[in-house]
Amino acid sequence: MTLDGPAGSGKSTTAKAIARRLGLRHLDSGALYRALTFALLEAGVPEERWATLGVGDFRALGVSMVPTGGGFEVRLAGRSLVGELRSAEVTDRVARLARLPAARACLIDLQRTAGERGRLVADGRDMGTVVFPDADLKVYLVADLEERARRRLRETDAREPGEGGLASQIGAIRDRDSIDSGRDVSPLRRPDDAIEIDTTDLSFEQQVDAIVELVSRLTLP
Ligand code: CDP
Repeated sequence: MTLDGPAGSGKSTTAKAIARRLGLRHLDSGALYRALTFALLEAGVPEERWATLGVGDFRALGVSMVPTGGGFEVRLAGRSLVGELRSAEVTDRVARLARLPAARACLIDLQRTAGERGRLVADGRDMGTVVFPDADLKVYLVADLEERARRRLRETDAREPGEGGLASQIGAIRDRDSIDSGRDVSPLRRPDDAIEIDTTDLSFEQQVDAIVELVSRLTLP
C-alpha cells in the first residue's frame, strides 16, 4: 500500500505503526531523498552544481538500502544513517534536490526493488502516482498547515511552541510543499484512486486505526 501527503501530515510515523501492526515492511522514501542530500553536503558539492549532476554522479555517492526486520536501513557507502537525515541542514535543502530528474531517476530503482516482494507500506510524495501505480491500496493524508507545523515542532521540542517558532515552521513547511507540488517531475499530488484522510482533528491512534480498517476491508472476501 502507498501513503502520500505533504510535509508533516504524519506519513512516516503512521506508515511505521501500520507496518508493525500488520506485519508489513515500511519503506520511507523521503529518507532516500534526505540521504542523497546529506551525501552531497558531506561531499562538499556546492548547491548551485546539483542541477548539473547526472544519474551516474548521484549513484556514485553510494546511497543504498538494506532490508531489516521491519523495513529498510538507509546507508551511505556502507555506513548507517539515522539522525543525520532529519537535521535542519538536510530538511532545508531536500526539496531542491528532489525536484531534479536525475536525482529521482537514481532513487526510483532502489524503491521498486524494495517493493518487489510486496507486503510493503511505502510513504512519500509520489508512491501512488509514479513509483507503485498498481498498489492495492492508496491513502493520501492531509492536515491543516498550522497543525502540521505544530506537530513538527513537537517532534523536536516537547514544549508548546511559541508564536515566533510556529510562524517560521509554517513558512518552512509552506515553502517545501510549494516546491514539492510545483516541480515538473513527480509532483506531490493526490493519486486519482487514493482515499484521502484529513488528520487535522485525529489523534495518532485514530489515524492509524482508520488506515488499518481500510486494509482489513481490502483483505476481507
Ligand atoms: O517527513 P517529511 O514530510 O518532512 O519529509 P520526508 O517524507 O522525509 O521527505 C523529505 C523531502 O523529500 C520532501 O519534502 C520531498 O522534497 C522529497 N520526497 C520526494 O520528492 N518524493 C518522495 N517520494 C519522498 C520525499
